[in-house]
Amino acid sequence: MGREEMLQNVPIFSELGRRDLGRLAKLMVPRQVKSGEVIIKEGDQAAGFFVVSSGKLEAVKGPDSSNEQHLANYGPGDFFGEMALFEVFPRSATVRALEDSECLAMTRWDFMAEMKNHPEIAVGMLPVLVRRLRDASAHVAE
Ligand code: CMP
Repeated sequence: MGREEMLQNVPIFSELGRRDLGRLAKLMVPRQVKSGEVIIKEGDQAAGFFVVSSGKLEAVKGPDSSNEQHLANYGPGDFFGEMALFEVFPRSATVRALEDSECLAMTRWDFMAEMKNHPEIAVGMLPVLVRRLRDASAHVAE
């Protein structure tokens, strides 16, 4: 599957048109992650966003404490690190690979530059971000 076609199946990009997807696809760089490797560390300054192209990863909170909390698993087509795209903020969780995986990475500054020139990208992404926030809130309330 081509990179652009893959991005079309990623929920956060599902509202975007072909041209926007093509431009974003060019900004994404493949990154290999070994089983057990941490790709995002809770508390670190956020700089990038990832889409899983193969393998399996998990998000956890408090991995260095005695009460590590599992938040989510990610497989092909899933995304994580999205909070970094819009704001410079410490990572809210740790994401590590459960098996050898490959992700496509996009930096915040590349994304910001693209969004300034093409604001419809942000408009297309917002409903999906809000949905994830709603799901996370429901999860907390359970
Ligand atoms: P970010 O804070 O940039 O880095 C850690 C990532 O873990 C975060 O973005 C989300 O992509 C992901 N994450 C954090 N909390 C949750 C959650 N409750 N459910 C699913 N994914 C989460």
